[in-house]
Amino acid sequence: MLRFLTAGESHGQGLLAILEGLPAGLRVEEERINLELRRRQLGIGRGPRMNIEKDKVQIISGLKKGITLGSPIGILIQNRDARIDKLPGVFSPRPGHADLSGALKYGFSDIRNVLERASARETASRVAVGAICKIFLEVFGIAVSSNTINIGGKTVVEEMFNQVKLAQMKKDTLGGIFEVLIEGLPAGLGSYVHWDRRLDGRLAQAVISIPGIKAIEFGLGFGYAECFGSQVHDAIYYRKGKGYYRRTNNAGGLEGGVTNGEPILLRVCMKPIATLKQPLDSVNILSKKSGKASIQRADICAVEAAGVIAENMCAFVVADAFLEKFGADSISEIKANYLNYRKKIG
Ligand SMILES: Cc1cc2nc3c(=O)[nH]c(=O)nc-3n(C[C@H](O)[C@H](O)[C@H](O)COP(=O)(O)O)c2cc1C
Repeated sequence: MLRFLTAGESHGQGLLAILEGLPAGLRVEEERINLELRRRQLGIGRGPRMNIEKDKVQIISGLKKGITLGSPIGILIQNRDARIDKLPGVFSPRPGHADLSGALKYGFSDIRNVLERASARETASRVAVGAICKIFLEVFGIAVSSNTINIGGKTVVEEMFNQVKLAQMKKDTLGGIFEVLIEGLPAGLGSYVHWDRRLDGRLAQAVISIPGIKAIEFGLGFGYAECFGSQVHDAIYYRKGKGYYRRTNNAGGLEGGVTNGEPILLRVCMKPIATLKQPLDSVNILSKKSGKASIQRADICAVEAAGVIAENMCAFVVADAFLEKFGADSISEIKANYLNYRKKIG
């Protein structure tokens, strides 16, 4: 089983992750992980924090001379803006954030105690973990990518930029839609036998857990609702050497919670950023007086970054499913298992 835990606050000393379950014998270069971290910090509409945090990982365990040992991989990302004990308290919860529910749940009188961990800063650790999973998947020809297809209703890149500029001028924020594509998958990852082994459900959970993500669809998704079955199910063909294949991919690569050999395609919606420079109505949690929500340093739009995070979360889930099917303690054993299976399915 592949698993990870993360720790760290937005303005604490740093972010930590422990990734466990990767086999021995995989070359992992820190620069590859840093590249993914950099991608997470870019994109249309990102805020000033992104210029402060030039994220870099330090791998502190699990590798020798850059090769995995099969032991847990410890990852550290230092925060450059580590002022958690000096920052002022926050008392007016922002609608759309964990601020109010978090303060009520944990009994805090300072909302900073909530937002320090609820902030999307935590996703840097997830990207570092996912980046290592991507390196693992690449050994088997599996690639994960993402693409922004809509920001604030605009689908042409120039118009997306203009829409973000407009939002900035109006002191407002935007969300949008991105796609994640996973290519090079063999049929047979995941399982239909239990609800929690279905790969569609596992991917959905991983992606919807990214802050700000509100909807996800696989393949044709909501489009299925308008069609006859005969129009949308992907007919099956076979050719010697190629094996089974489809000419369409409305299923988005998954049938019965199992990969069918076609690329996995997810479409994901992110809501507009919740921190507004012209804040909505809120209530001071100490005085209970009405006022405006607090203002924190914030992005205007983070759809592209969310796409990068989703890629890396998907890489983790697919690597986990891959290890379930072909898993062993070393890369060479897994390669042998994988090649044997590929030969068998044609
Ligand atoms: C990459 C990324 C950056 C984000 N940046 C901000 C931000 O600057 N300000 C903000 O209010 N929300 C930001 N969000 C969204 C919030 O973290 C999220 O809306 C909030 O934690 C509440 O969670 P929920 O929207 O999933 O309910 C960001 C999300 C992501 C994925």
